This record gives sequence, structure tokens and C-alpha cells, in this order.
Amino acid sequence: MNETSPSPPPALALEGVTRRFSDGERVVTVLEGLDFQVEGGERVAVMGASGSGKSTLLNLAAGMDRPDDGRVRLLDEPLDAIAEPELTRFRARHVGLVFQDFNLIDSLNVRENIALPLWLNGLDSTGGEIKELSETLGIADLLERLPDQLSGGEKQRVAIARALIHRPEVLLADEPTGSLDEASAERVLALFDRVTADSGCALVLVTHNPQAAAICDRQLQLRGGRLHGS
Ligand SMILES: Nc1ncnc2c1ncn2[C@@H]1O[C@H](COP(=O)(O)OP(=O)(O)O)[C@@H](O)[C@H]1O
Ligand SMILES: [Mg+2]
Repeated sequence: MNETSPSPPPALALEGVTRRFSDGERVVTVLEGLDFQVEGGERVAVMGASGSGKSTLLNLAAGMDRPDDGRVRLLDEPLDAIAEPELTRFRARHVGLVFQDFNLIDSLNVRENIALPLWLNGLDSTGGEIKELSETLGIADLLERLPDQLSGGEKQRVAIARALIHRPEVLLADEPTGSLDEASAERVLALFDRVTADSGCALVLVTHNPQAAAICDRQLQLRGGRLHGS
């Protein structure tokens, strides 16, 4: 028998990740040699000034963007080794992603937007789970509406429902309470708290909201291209 059982791989690992952008004249290094690990079931808040690279970090973690240097592993899979369209399928299967600007599909109604990850996984929705989730989020009356018939806070809650409907193993949420009133924000945080505790889903929560940070196990600050904190 082994004296030490091997620990499971982290849900998310960024290894020496560097990301630079050029604005045409200058090259700006947004993330520099960043090392970051999130264990399965762990909940991590990422805070930082506007422009510090929080959304860049989440996009890289989700494989929506590629690092200039270093590597991202999601559920032990090195994302650089997965090409499209397999990467889209991998993401649809394992990751829930709440984009800062929601990224709803304008031509689909709310119900269809929420069901999208199920369709991408070849699953049919019976409607029961969409109903339950949308009731929890207070958007059950909006299911037949198109995104341009919604307020910002309503769109954000649709994006949150879409990120959770397929029970992801990794939830990446970019300021998910940024457009919500206090009561809705509390409902969303309670939902994140419950879902991650029940399912062991790892959470990376980009936020300016101290109450959001408080549901997390660790609070980190992104500054100077690196993460600081415990
Ligand atoms: N695709 C891009 N092209 C050029 N610059 C970008 C791009 N994406 C982000 N940036 C720049 O990188 C920096 C970090 O952006 P972002 O990750 O959105 O910050 P945050 O989410 O913390 O506000 C900003 O200066 C932004 O202008
Ligand atoms: Mg951002």
C-alpha cells in the first residue's frame, strides 16, 4: 500500500501564465508568470482594480483565450492540447461561465439561452430543471422573452442560469452580481454557495462585492499581473 495516497489534480491550474496585449503602439503585459491553482470544491474570490486583468484571467481559465506563455490545465487537461471544436465541447461539458457582458444569444429566447449547454452536450431539457433554476433566480416569468426585452440585471441572471444548468465541475463567474440589486445578489450568492457545497464544483468568482468574496474560501487580489493574498 502507498504510504501517501496521491492527491487529486486541481480543478484549475495556471502555470506561469503570461498574457500581453498590444494597443498598436505599446505592448502591455496584463498577466505575468501567473501561477494559480484551484482545488476541486474550492471557492476562490479574485478582486482587483478595473483593468487589472480579472476578465483576462477568467477567459484564459476557460480556454476562451490562449496565453502567450505558460499553460492552463482544466480538470488536468492542458487546454493548449485541445483544438476547436473539441475545446467548445469540453467547455460545454465541464465549465459554467458567466461572462461580464453576459454574452446571451440575441436570437434565442431566455429558455433557449438557458438550455444551450444542455443542447451542446446532446441532452434534452425536460423543462423541469430550467423552471426550478429560473424560479430560484426570479426569472421564471421571462422564459419566452428575447434578450433585448430584458434589463441588465435580468440578463445577468439568465447568464447565471445558463452557467449552472448542466451542473459544471468548474464555475467561472465574472462580476456576476455587478448588475443586480441587493436582494437578487443575495439570492445568487446563496445559490452559488449551495451549488458548490452540494456538487463539489470549484468556483472562481471575480467580484468587487465583499459579500460575494465572503462565500469563498480564499480571497485574492490581482495586482501587477500577479495574484496576492492567501
Ligand atoms: N483583446 C484585448 N486587446 C487589447 N487589450 C486588451 C484586450 N483584452 C483586455 N485588454 C486590456 O488588458 C487589461 C486588462 O483587462 P481586463 O482583463 O478586462 O481587466 P479587468 O477585468 O480586471 O477590468 C486592460 O488594460 C485592457 O484594456
Ligand atoms: Mg473585467
